[in-house]
Amino acid sequence: MKIGLLTGGGDAPGLNGIIEAVTKTLLHHGHDVVGLCDGFEGVFNQNIKQLNLKDVEGLHAMAGTLLGTSNKTGTKGREDEFRSQLKKLRLDVLIAAGGDGTFRGLSDFSQDIPLIGVPKTIDNDLPGTDVTFGFDTACTVVQEAIESLKATADAHRRIFFVETMGRTAGWIALRGGLTGYADLILLPEFPIQIKQLITVVKEKLKKSRGLVICVAEGAHISGEKVLVQKIVEGSPQAERYGGIAHHLATLVEQETSEECRHVVLGHLQRSRFPTTADRMLTLSMGVEAARMAIEKDFNKAVVTLDGKIKRVPIETFFAPVKEVQAQHEWVQLARELEMMI
Ligand code: F6P
Repeated sequence: MKIGLLTGGGDAPGLNGIIEAVTKTLLHHGHDVVGLCDGFEGVFNQNIKQLNLKDVEGLHAMAGTLLGTSNKTGTKGREDEFRSQLKKLRLDVLIAAGGDGTFRGLSDFSQDIPLIGVPKTIDNDLPGTDVTFGFDTACTVVQEAIESLKATADAHRRIFFVETMGRTAGWIALRGGLTGYADLILLPEFPIQIKQLITVVKEKLKKSRGLVICVAEGAHISGEKVLVQKIVEGSPQAERYGGIAHHLATLVEQETSEECRHVVLGHLQRSRFPTTADRMLTLSMGVEAARMAIEKDFNKAVVTLDGKIKRVPIETFFAPVKEVQAQHEWVQLARELEMMI
């Protein structure tokens, strides 16, 4: 078979691990593997590259994606062009590592080409899978940043607001904040009561010289809208969130007269070599995706459920995003440790 491999949406640590594991397994079974460059753009522009063993050897350890990606180009409104360009590639199956934008974009073409999905997002908000690769690495970046900033927060008696990625879900802020022992964690799922926040900050400052507060980019003050930093036209998820850490630092400084600063971790959370947990995940998912292709078990995605690799219908990802629930055990841990209000 001639099997196409595509990485779509924002990059996530582990994409290269998927490329290495998929390619090695398929080559081992005598198949031909081609990479489609820059997500959907590779199909529109017929930009492909043959993948051989030497191209993927050792790739798993690197951030980014060998094939390039894009979270700006969709298929909407260009369906006919996409279909005819896809046909020209003469693929037997397409393995796509992406988020819900990638799978929604490909869902109209299931009659044209069989699909195998590998879910990917650092945000960990895709339904139907326990965890997505890249999430553990992103949380590690957050954890290390919080731990590092504690020293300077204490040295200067300052309050640091550390802003994480995650869009409308708080998973990165919650797990990164917990493992870094943040003084407080603020999530999109629980609107910030500003008066209560100021009271808690004042109380905490009686016991600590400085504070490090972990805030998700999608968090917002009750009664206010989520802060959108920019709109990327043509992107399946056009809003780019950001600005809440700066906003809170300004407000809390005004109300408490304590010195506040903000740090936006941004793309550092995506652009780091994957952790061991993410490497194991991409190795297992990559091999499984290749096995699905070999067995012609098409139009499904590979996920992890209860610690096991499973196959589910692609449509699983079309449900609403997975948000942090108040009863989640990580929220309970954070409350026990007074990291959440
Ligand atoms: O969905 C992944 C993500 O990293 C979000 O956490 C973040 O809001 C967004 O992508 C940033 O996108 P971009 O790379 O276009 O700035």
